[in-house]
Amino acid sequence: MSENLTGKRILVVGGARGIGAELVRRTARAGADVVVATRSGPEVRIDVTDESTIARAAQSLGAVDHVICTASAHHDVPVPELEHDKIRAAFSAKVVGPLLLAKHFAPRMAAGGSFLFFSGVVGWRPKPGTVVKGTANAALAALVTHLAVELAPLRVNAVAPGLTDSGAWDGLPNERRRALYDSAAAASLTGRVGTLGDVADTALWLLGAGWVTGETVHVDGGTRHR
Ligand SMILES: NC(=O)c1ccc[n+]([C@@H]2O[C@H](COP(=O)([O-])OP(=O)(O)OC[C@H]3O[C@@H](n4cnc5c(N)ncnc54)[C@H](OP(=O)(O)O)[C@@H]3O)[C@@H](O)[C@H]2O)c1
Repeated sequence: MSENLTGKRILVVGGARGIGAELVRRTARAGADVVVATRSGPEVRIDVTDESTIARAAQSLGAVDHVICTASAHHDVPVPELEHDKIRAAFSAKVVGPLLLAKHFAPRMAAGGSFLFFSGVVGWRPKPGTVVKGTANAALAALVTHLAVELAPLRVNAVAPGLTDSGAWDGLPNERRRALYDSAAAASLTGRVGTLGDVADTALWLLGAGWVTGETVHVDGGTRHR
């Protein structure tokens, strides 16, 4: 992939690790001026569950061309064990956060700019214990369509990865991680889990895809079709 992002200013919320960190590396390599926002700062502090941090960042940064957000909070439990606060946190990170980023950054973005958010395959593959994550990811897909209409000509898109070896699973004991990867690989049509490169290639393409908006692009090795 050889997208040229020279002269573009890109904010990556959640840029310190995982897919976000890969997007920081890749967009910088493509020539962009990249601003990394994390919950702890120090470059820019944004916690998408705290609107005041978004408002402050938008005011201090001024114009940006693209806003990327990878934030998520998981609450993977069976229905009888659901906790209201954790349900709210999951939707706050994945759905409300992107809405608030749009509220504060869209007025500062010029035509040609875009938002890129992260959904996930679980939104289309319901299974017990994932009702919160699945519903939040599916809601994000609806959100990008609605935002794309309201914010046009700014573009708004999402990437929906399947299980990706992003570092997010590194905290699991080796054996559990191996089993998770094996079952995700078997559930895909391509026989493997995703790589950071798979997801970043699509994300970078979307930043430059000037006639694509309101879309959720599935990067899941065909898992939704099995
Ligand atoms: N990896 C997968 O298998 C997979 C599959 C499907 C979908 N996805 C989606 O892809 C996205 C990125 O995944 P990943 O694997 O890179 O996950 P990750 O390693 O857990 O990264 C999540 C990022 O979001 C940030 N974040 C969390 N809550 C936040 C908040 N309230 N405000 C601002 N930032 C916040 C984290 O920052 P801190 O450093 O501050 O914690 C972290 O940088 C997520 O939305 C995830 O749901 C991933």
